[in-house]
Amino acid sequence: MTALDTHAPTRMARTAPEVDARPAGTIADPAADARSVPRVDAVPKVLGLARFTDDLVVPGAWHGCTVRATVPHARLLGIERDPGFDWSRVVVLTAADIPGDNVIHLMADDQPVLAADEIQHFGEPVALVAAPTLALARAARDHIRVHADPLPPVLDMLAADHIFASYAIDRGDVEAGFAQADLVVEGTYRTGHQEHIYLEPQSMIAIPRPDGGVTVHGSLQCPYYVHAALKRALKLDADRCVVVQEETGGAFGGKEEFPSGPAIHAAMLALAVGRPVRLIYDRREDISVSTKRHPSVIRYRTGVTRDGRLVAQDIDITFDAGAYKTLSAVVLSRGTLHSGGPYACPNVRIRSRAVRTNTPPTGAFRGFGAPQAEFAAELQADRVAEKLGISPVELRERWAYRLGDRTPTNQELRESVSALDTLRAAARAADFEAQRRVFAAARSIDGGRTVRGIGLAMGWHGAGFTGGGEKYLASVAAVELTAEGRIRVLVDSTEMGQGMRTVLAQIAAQRLGIPLGEVEVARQDTSVVPNSGPTVASRTTMVVGGLLATAADRLRAAVEERAGGPFPATYSADARGNGGLRFDERFDGYPDIVWDETTYVGDAYPCFSWAATTAEVEVDLDTGEVAVRHVVSADDCGTVVNPLMAAGQVEGGTLQGVGYATIEEMKVEGGRFVNDRLATYLIPTAQDAPRITAVLLENPFSNAPHGAKGLGELPMDLAAPAVVAAIADATGVWIDELPATPERILAALDADREEAST
Ligand code: MOS
Repeated sequence: MTALDTHAPTRMARTAPEVDARPAGTIADPAADARSVPRVDAVPKVLGLARFTDDLVVPGAWHGCTVRATVPHARLLGIERDPGFDWSRVVVLTAADIPGDNVIHLMADDQPVLAADEIQHFGEPVALVAAPTLALARAARDHIRVHADPLPPVLDMLAADHIFASYAIDRGDVEAGFAQADLVVEGTYRTGHQEHIYLEPQSMIAIPRPDGGVTVHGSLQCPYYVHAALKRALKLDADRCVVVQEETGGAFGGKEEFPSGPAIHAAMLALAVGRPVRLIYDRREDISVSTKRHPSVIRYRTGVTRDGRLVAQDIDITFDAGAYKTLSAVVLSRGTLHSGGPYACPNVRIRSRAVRTNTPPTGAFRGFGAPQAEFAAELQADRVAEKLGISPVELRERWAYRLGDRTPTNQELRESVSALDTLRAAARAADFEAQRRVFAAARSIDGGRTVRGIGLAMGWHGAGFTGGGEKYLASVAAVELTAEGRIRVLVDSTEMGQGMRTVLAQIAAQRLGIPLGEVEVARQDTSVVPNSGPTVASRTTMVVGGLLATAADRLRAAVEERAGGPFPATYSADARGNGGLRFDERFDGYPDIVWDETTYVGDAYPCFSWAATTAEVEVDLDTGEVAVRHVVSADDCGTVVNPLMAAGQVEGGTLQGVGYATIEEMKVEGGRFVNDRLATYLIPTAQDAPRITAVLLENPFSNAPHGAKGLGELPMDLAAPAVVAAIADATGVWIDELPATPERILAALDADREEAST
């Protein structure tokens, strides 16, 4: 695992980990695997040659900016331009200037492009400005006043009365389950907003088209989401709006639904000015108004027998959706469906709701509701283990799903169940039980104020869209042999740093039997590529990659028949002689997946990925600071296409989870994000990064032609509960609210001492 040990090992005294006897199909050294080709986009990015949206030179472009609400809730009376300002070279637009419907089309269509009557959150767009220079555009923005009559804001999710979405899942008889229980454990867990902090802020450039339409270039995850939103708001037919994804500097869900708003804004301005318009957010504007991870309050009542059998779970979930619905119904759905954890339980009741508050809308963020639910589920499991006096590993050994078990939605787990394999692999690679004993025997590393501990969490992540989502999307992916004899992959899946361009090309190259360098990936331009669905939900490698594998198989067979020889040796000359060929493959459901959207019974996901994670921490008892030293993550994502990049997903998701666990705290006052800068909203840097050991397990999914499941979000689910469990092991106090900041840790230690002294 040397390639992954990128951080100077600040190792503590410990016994040597025993990493030999891993389950079959385990990849211990991703770097040494032949499939680990380097990312095709790595060199230009590392050399600074890659051009992101704001790097694009567009002659004659004007600059746009956004006039925003400065109150969380109000009746909007109108805007007033400063009569002393020179407005002659400035274009100003309000809701009255929207050519089509004043909605950012998504699911509920409740969010306006520009506020018309009522302001629902701080920072809500009210008007748009464009001018030949950025300085003039900003000056004009600052000379516009928004007149509004304040209304009382709802800022507390538990006091909110407007429910955007709710779910109820029942399995067995929960009261009968509690009646069998020898022990009932209750817990309430809270999580806060988390900001994506993609490297590149939201960026759009809109260019008017000769046909009266508009082409929008930008930083985004889902070209066809933006396309649909543009059509609706601008009242344009499909051909006259084109969306082109430019090089995108990170997204993590933050460029899933949010970019549709700025794309419409830029397009409206470009059409009004008759010139290209650049709309580039700076970091402060981006943090102030972009979506965040949903804050949550999650309550558990768990019933167990004396010997540790899980007999009842009663779970109640509230998510803060902010001012508009965005994707909250599906984020909450995923949170709800993951809240039981990877644990078999005969009697389960889950109730959940996403509510409206007058805060900026929350939305997609890597994990999509699962990190909140799995944080709560894992802390609750640890509390039960503590009460029973058994180890966290032993408890999970007893509870973990086995093949044939049924989930709370009555989904039978028919294949590819790796809960126990990942648990054992992580515990073994971390030498968990021995390490816990070592730390318990010698808690402090400096004979004083720094204590250490180790924690563990395990989890699951449903791969692909929930329920019937994939079938409804009917995604299309294509492989083309061009008339010039080149191979092209046509998908709208976007590269945002996760490796799409490499992995999908690898899948096509492998099926065709040709070198990776002979496969091109067409750019993500809606006038060029089909709709292969949004690049979300850990679905790209599994679903889009699966379609490509089948399309490539068909292309290979067709060419081999036509050319009368093996594909690699014949395809190029064959195309030049006989013309190009293209195969479009449309998703039409996985066999035997049955889901009832109205009752929430059935196969919630086509399959699950599984993981277990351990974390070793040091806690400074004087300052409350936590240093995460070593994380071991064992992840099963089915057949791995590129082990090095898979390990990279594990490292990145783990580090994002470490930030979520310890320092990423968005402070909200009066509905406004107060720490809206990188100086005040902290994320882990290389200095804070633990040593991360990724152990990849390959338990294939039989319905995907290449056996792959999802991975992108899975590691985000587990680092936080593992770190908080390690903090509890080190200090003896449980922090039930994320992030476990120094303030919260010190307060909990104080309360603990007070309790001990009374
Ligand atoms: Mo996502 S959080 O499914 O982009």
